[in-house]
Amino acid sequence: MKKIVVLISGSGSNLQSLIDATANGLQAQIVAVISNQPDAYGLVRAQQAKIPALSLSAKEFADREQYDAALMAMIDNYHPDLVVLAGFMRILTADLVKHYSGKMLNIHPSLLPKYPGLHTHRKAMENGDSEHGTSVHFVTEELDGGPVILQAKVPIFANDTEEDVIERVKAQEHNIYPMVVQWFVDERLVMADNHAYLDGRCLPMHGYVND
Ligand code: GAR
Repeated sequence: MKKIVVLISGSGSNLQSLIDATANGLQAQIVAVISNQPDAYGLVRAQQAKIPALSLSAKEFADREQYDAALMAMIDNYHPDLVVLAGFMRILTADLVKHYSGKMLNIHPSLLPKYPGLHTHRKAMENGDSEHGTSVHFVTEELDGGPVILQAKVPIFANDTEEDVIERVKAQEHNIYPMVVQWFVDERLVMADNHAYLDGRCLPMHGYVND
């Protein structure tokens, strides 16, 4: 069975969708959950699911290189086949990204390449966009720039609050992230030459299209 390490920083609702998927047929084991925030609620979710829950605070390290070296050691202790970023709110060093090249997925709350970085929902609303969404992608050295695997769109309504849009996007994330992890676990999904391939077919810029 394939082993997954999940990295989080916050509430861990995407982590929960993956935990639930493993209980409902996803043939993989979440072997550890690691948070950079010791009080992240996602750690409680991991403990409730009897998954080792660890925290690694950046305060204990002099710089990003030292932190990421310790994080890599912590992850590698579990010999994962896949590392899943599920709301892990840190910029990663090139060394770490290279170390997990082709084996690290991220979910980002925008229709990439639109709105990399923070506050994506607010930016979409301020720009008057009528839709927003989320993207699952392989992690490369370019921030939020790795090849997109799958996106999901949501509408933005005139009277929405930012929180409404965040929650609407998250509901879609909980559907698509376990699906993409399943593809990876089934060895249908690979990264090569900075592109994502599903069943041997190079995915277009916005990821898999179901038509
Ligand atoms: C998710 O919406 C995810 O897309 C976002 O953080 C949220 C985590 O929610 N990730 C990023 O912004 C990464 N750049 P969760 O803790 O409830 O899963």
